[in-house]
Amino acid sequence: MILVWPMIAIGWVINIIERGSASMGRINKLLDVSPEIKDTGKAKIKTIRGLIDMKSVFFSYNGKPILKNIDLYAEPGKKIGIVGGIGSGKSTLVALIARLYEVEKGEILFDGVPIREIPLKILRRSVGFVPQDVFLFSDTIRENIRFGNPNATDDEIVEVVRLCGLSDEIEGFPKGLDTVVGERGLSLSGGQRQRITLARAIIKNPSILILDDALSSVDTEKEAEIIDNLRDFLKERTTSIVSHRLKSLIDSDEVIVLQDGEITERGTHQELVEMNGFYANLFRLQQLEEVL
Ligand SMILES: Nc1ncnc2c1ncn2[C@@H]1O[C@H](COP(=O)(O)OP(=O)(O)OP(=O)(O)O)[C@@H](O)[C@H]1O
Ligand SMILES: [Mg+2]
Repeated sequence: MILVWPMIAIGWVINIIERGSASMGRINKLLDVSPEIKDTGKAKIKTIRGLIDMKSVFFSYNGKPILKNIDLYAEPGKKIGIVGGIGSGKSTLVALIARLYEVEKGEILFDGVPIREIPLKILRRSVGFVPQDVFLFSDTIRENIRFGNPNATDDEIVEVVRLCGLSDEIEGFPKGLDTVVGERGLSLSGGQRQRITLARAIIKNPSILILDDALSSVDTEKEAEIIDNLRDFLKERTTSIVSHRLKSLIDSDEVIVLQDGEITERGTHQELVEMNGFYANLFRLQQLEEVL
């Protein structure tokens, strides 16, 4: 009788140890992965102004060529639009600008410095990236936004929330900015998640901003409102915008059209419409759609 309880306890402890060591094994496996992007940068720069220069860049995933001979030049403050069909390589292109992958051939330079030589800390601080599939942590909206800049004050957070057209919706939540979003943001709509991610990128005050279809789940009116709000902010940054809605690219300094990983058309909105190719067609279709 005296031994029954200790036996149960030993069984229980063995069970906990087994489960713990299995979990620890998995965590260690993750911690042992060394990142593909190595922080080898030695360039002595403190900030990036935002001049982007891509020189005949090639890229492939596991030997399958995706991007071919991409040239792109954007002076600080300019806006580059990127359009193209599904799977044409738009997301891959902007991921290369953010150095989420290493280019295979060719070169990307920021302010004339090869991207590989820029210390990652400076690179990550200077580039705001809103990915196509957004990621939120299961924490409050406030902390999700503050993730972009841990030193941001509450006033700054309120301001970016306003810029991203979220003020009314967040005020409607019972706890406002302190509402906890579910795992990966499940309790929010797609458009709300996208705009919180946008707010997170903006609060960083980056000199290069990349939006990969960042407002696709927001309706046209709201999108126009946000772009209008952000006009002053965007004026001072180099922006690359991937979008399916050509309307939001009309005022770009250059729009490039990607097809199968190659740039097939490039120019301002007006030039592309006159070229009467892929872009002009798509623009006509979208205008028709609007009228209908
Ligand atoms: N991680 C990956 N590994 C292997 N192949 C990939 C990977 N990511 C994308 N691809 C392939 O690369 C090509 C380009 O993909 P990418 O995501 O850049 O296209 P996209 O233009 O952004 O498309 P969408 O309009 O659907 O967002 C696709 O054919 C895709 O299958
Ligand atoms: Mg994409």
